[in-house]
Amino acid sequence: MLTEVSATRYVTPLREGGSLPGLVEADDLGLYVMKFSGAGQGRKTLVAEVICGQLARRLGFRVPGLVGIALDPVIGLGEPDQEVQGLLKSSGGLNLGMEFLSGAIGFDPLAYGVTAEEAGRVVWFDALINNVDRSWRNPNMLVWRGDLWLIDHGASMIWHHNWRGAEASAAKPYDAADHALAPFGPDVKGAAAELAPQVTEDLLMECAAEVPEAWLADEPGFEGPDDVRRAYASTLLGRARGLAERITVGAPAGRTGTAGWREPR
Ligand SMILES: Nc1ncnc2c1ncn2[C@@H]1O[C@H](COP(=O)(O)OP(=O)(O)O)[C@@H](O)[C@H]1O
Ligand SMILES: [Mg+2]
Repeated sequence: MLTEVSATRYVTPLREGGSLPGLVEADDLGLYVMKFSGAGQGRKTLVAEVICGQLARRLGFRVPGLVGIALDPVIGLGEPDQEVQGLLKSSGGLNLGMEFLSGAIGFDPLAYGVTAEEAGRVVWFDALINNVDRSWRNPNMLVWRGDLWLIDHGASMIWHHNWRGAEASAAKPYDAADHALAPFGPDVKGAAAELAPQVTEDLLMECAAEVPEAWLADEPGFEGPDDVRRAYASTLLGRARGLAERITVGAPAGRTGTAGWREPR
């Protein structure tokens, strides 16, 4: 289970993303990027953040540490922004927090080089979790203290919105043409050789075990949270098999060749 802290102060909204996460201070004096349980995207976004974030960490990627954040909506009473006020009001109870990487800057492919090996690892991982949210338009990667960090896994595992079609959906190919790291010549085969053997059922169950019960309760078609956890583990395990053969990395859509894509935006 995730470590749990309590929010003591709402600091500011983070407006770069779509879901309006908030920067909060907690009773351990840490600063966290908080993803609201009451946000329109729903609790599955939080489940995806936990499973994929913990899996990424276990596979050796740099990802911010995750915590559960207990929120008493009263801390937002003085918040002037209506949208933020609404989010705080509807998110009483447990929310998700990510350690705030103070001073991190958004990944810019023109300013930060990535090796084919590292690019391959990220692309293979994103293919595994069906992440569609790491494109050059919206990389969801940060550079902090000279290293590349992965954030924002909320839009992955699209198949968990329709469990009946999950297995078929997980068997589908992954088109990485639009991936932010596609231009770095990702060594997907090398990454698969290193990472695929590590993705075992035990490892996946460890990651799923970190998801708070409340976010898995009453899932239609399941007997309880552990049943849902097993479904996540088995779907991801199935997807990992032979995945590298199903990944295509072409030229980024809408741009021609590697020279064209490097034009300043
Ligand atoms: N752990 C973090 N440390 C520092 N900044 C972060 C962190 N997580 C997110 N951010 C900043 O907040 C923005 C929105 O966060 P993100 O997780 O991408 O949410 P969204 O679902 O809104 O896209 C990011 O683009 C980044 O600038
Ligand atoms: Mg984002």
